[in-house]
Amino acid sequence: MRSLLFVPGDSEKKLEKGFSARADAVIVDLEDSVAPANKPKARTLAGEAIRARPSGHRVYVRVNDLTTGLTDADLAAVVPAKPDGLILPKSQGGADVQQLSTKLRVAEIEAGLPDGGIAILPIITETGLATLSTATYAGCSPRLVGLTWGAEDLAAEIGAQTNRDAHGRYTDVFRLARSVTLLAASASVVAAIDTVHVDFRDLDTLRTECLEAERDGFTGKLAIHPAQVSVINEVFTPSREAVEQAQALVAAFADAGNAGVVALEGRMYDIPHLKRAQRLLSRARDAGVLA
Ligand code: COA
Ligand code: MG
Repeated sequence: MRSLLFVPGDSEKKLEKGFSARADAVIVDLEDSVAPANKPKARTLAGEAIRARPSGHRVYVRVNDLTTGLTDADLAAVVPAKPDGLILPKSQGGADVQQLSTKLRVAEIEAGLPDGGIAILPIITETGLATLSTATYAGCSPRLVGLTWGAEDLAAEIGAQTNRDAHGRYTDVFRLARSVTLLAASASVVAAIDTVHVDFRDLDTLRTECLEAERDGFTGKLAIHPAQVSVINEVFTPSREAVEQAQALVAAFADAGNAGVVALEGRMYDIPHLKRAQRLLSRARDAGVLA
């Protein structure tokens, strides 16, 4: 998934628009973009929107976190509609994913759905403890499909006045949160998804952030506005040159038999380069630019 677009669950208009934004996934939000009084309405609308989604559209639901006492009602409303996955906010570690997975299992059985069909993608850096516990996601659940991070809640939690410096760059704590997300995703062998760019009118900065994220190993990014989707999709779709290079490298290894190292146009490539090329080709297939 390259782009995942948040849509507040209590807005019928945005729910409708969200599905035409060409995001790889729509995230129907039941958490922070919905005021407490509107949660019941959002649950009902979420269920309806998931059932009515155009075929082939992936949909996730961001439920309320496990400490709120709201998660069970969220699951009861949306699981029967069969979303593709759940976003777990303020996740404190692999044990939270396991706890949600157990709840999901019960909800799936009650809804007559197969056990394990609904994926989980936690937001793993929204508190200090959570950010220091990210290694615990490795092997925590077969439902885990990716990890993403948050800079807004973390800023509030640690008492930072801002998460950016005078040049618009994330300050150290937030760069650490971003980095541990990449490392935890690698340790868990799942996708690393970059956090939202809240300044949704500034598409130039969004593009820069996407390019830096793609360079560093993220394979997608959260969006909050439909206008952000095309920039994200474009940057996270492997370019034709990158695909051709990766194909050439895979072919060179295949031609060389069981070689651990090959030469291509005067450069040495070994197994890590092969793995990187294979990952890029798999992303290109997911993005629909390679058969
Ligand atoms: N999903 C679907 N539609 C959206 C949308 C979204 N995330 N964000 C904006 N739109 C729609 C608007 O409703 C508007 O529709 P209209 O042309 O029919 O009136 C159109 O896109 C243009 O929106 P715009 O006027 O540029 O923005 P806005 O001021 O209406 O909304 C936000 C700005 C930030 C409130 C809105 O983008 C939003 O709600 N984003 C998601 C917030 C969220 O879920 N946060 C939680 C995760 S951090
Ligand atoms: Mg939040």
